Amino acid sequence: MGQVLTAGTPIAVIGAGTMGAGIAQVAALAGHPVLLYDTDSDRLQAAVSGLHAQLGKLAERGKLGPEQAAAAAERIGTARDLGELAPAGLVIEAIVELLTAKRDLLSALEDVVKPEAVLASNTSSLSIDAMAAGLRVPGRVVGMHFFNPAPVMRLVEVVHGELTDPAVVAAVHELAGSWGKIAVRVASSPGFIVNRVARPFYGEAHRLVEEGAADPATIDAVLREAGGFRMGPFELTDLIGQDVNLAVCTSVWVATHFDPRYTPSGWQRGLVEAGRLGRKTGRGVYGYDGGAKPEPSTAPRAAVPAHVSAGVGLGPLEPLVARAAAAGIQVEPGGLPGELLFPRARAALTTGALAGEAAGGLPLVSLDLAMDYRTATRIAVAAGSGCPPEALAEVVGFLQAAGLAVTVVADTPGLVVMRTVARLANEAADLAGRGVAEAADIDLAMRHGANYPIGPLEWADRIGTERIRQVLDAMEDRYRDGRYRPSLALRRLSGRSPRGEETGR
Ligand SMILES: NC(=O)c1ccc[n+]([C@@H]2O[C@H](COP(=O)([O-])OP(=O)(O)OC[C@H]3O[C@@H](n4cnc5c(N)ncnc54)[C@H](O)[C@@H]3O)[C@@H](O)[C@H]2O)c1
Repeated sequence: MGQVLTAGTPIAVIGAGTMGAGIAQVAALAGHPVLLYDTDSDRLQAAVSGLHAQLGKLAERGKLGPEQAAAAAERIGTARDLGELAPAGLVIEAIVELLTAKRDLLSALEDVVKPEAVLASNTSSLSIDAMAAGLRVPGRVVGMHFFNPAPVMRLVEVVHGELTDPAVVAAVHELAGSWGKIAVRVASSPGFIVNRVARPFYGEAHRLVEEGAADPATIDAVLREAGGFRMGPFELTDLIGQDVNLAVCTSVWVATHFDPRYTPSGWQRGLVEAGRLGRKTGRGVYGYDGGAKPEPSTAPRAAVPAHVSAGVGLGPLEPLVARAAAAGIQVEPGGLPGELLFPRARAALTTGALAGEAAGGLPLVSLDLAMDYRTATRIAVAAGSGCPPEALAEVVGFLQAAGLAVTVVADTPGLVVMRTVARLANEAADLAGRGVAEAADIDLAMRHGANYPIGPLEWADRIGTERIRQVLDAMEDRYRDGRYRPSLALRRLSGRSPRGEETGR
């Protein structure tokens, strides 16, 4: 098609709701004449007034020059019927998330816009192929998935169907980049990148609560303070809305023909059924009526153990020894590879097995993963039922002396952060391995669309893909429900980088 979209290209935005209004603002600020259309004329007027007010506010706060804000406001016009959208070189639809409605709209647009105009959909879950089916020119249909709020969130997933013209994908990708967005390419598939790869962040937290491993406030704190995530899964879903989060999960589960990796949580469904939708209803996982937020469970202060030694090959745990040394604790060389040895206990990074299953010797305390053990402020640990409290206390005392708050969770395979990250990496490797998206784009998408501190594939690189595979295999062995099965892509990597450096991809 030889598609070119420039700053002067007129843009039509259809659907003047939350997303449509945000997208119109982005396009107008980038210099495009924008025509906004909605079947509900009150919504349309409200969106335009809202946009004018928003641009005015940005100017007042000094985020935009007053002329810049006024010019952007002036570039936003409204259309009373679809026919008025004829000049648009790019149409972005952000109407209701219903395949039939979107199909009807695209088919009506075919009779309105020029043959070379691009038809983009902001759908979060529908197939681009299904949307384009039956159109005269399916090659010009592409996904342009913005995140809420569109003017703030930098990620745009550019979603291509089987029939999408590569020139259309390239043009939309370039245009989004010129708007200051981070554009990533992804093939149309359930959840695209972000809504697919992020599922375990919620799913594992739900399972931990369901199994009584820890309470929500504790899991949130561990994922924030050890995992480095900006928000824990429970505070985040209370913000998004438990109903909205459950709907995304259910849609990916259905679209993957009920893959057990995405089975929605019965516990979360219970919240939704009880009307505990989150902040918007005043109560979700937490209450929002002004009461105090529950505190995470933190182990009481324990004595520093009399003696600590560290085996070779501690891997990711290495910085803990340096932290302890900096706090004046002497760590001698000794003990088994990969383990810390105390007078009555030993400790090692979780392997995905239960701590209580460890063979022979002193009782084992499993240590959870931290994104960065040099800076983490909390760590989760677990011991088997055979571990005496004074043995566990030695490990707790050591970690506390190294400057960490310690959370003791029930003996759980893969504890909290490791199981979450292993599954995120598995999802990401699976998408990259299937060619749904490039590894680098997957990491970018998770950092900018989900605010992850680090992309899951870069994380997998740091920990080692072989370790991730072992953790998943061990967990699959414990649960035997298909949820932790390592993807073929992860197995094929067998220790190599998922980001292609060593495979030359
Ligand atoms: N809200 C989000 O966080 C989010 C994020 C990314 C993508 N999306 C997707 O963006 C789209 C819109 O979501 P939203 O949250 O802005 O919805 P919304 O309900 O706020 O707005 C939808 C608007 O579309 C209008 N509309 C419905 N049918 C129409 C039609 N046939 N023609 C013209 N206008 C029509 C409605 O009157 C309404 O004003 C959906 O596809 C959704 O999946 C939403």
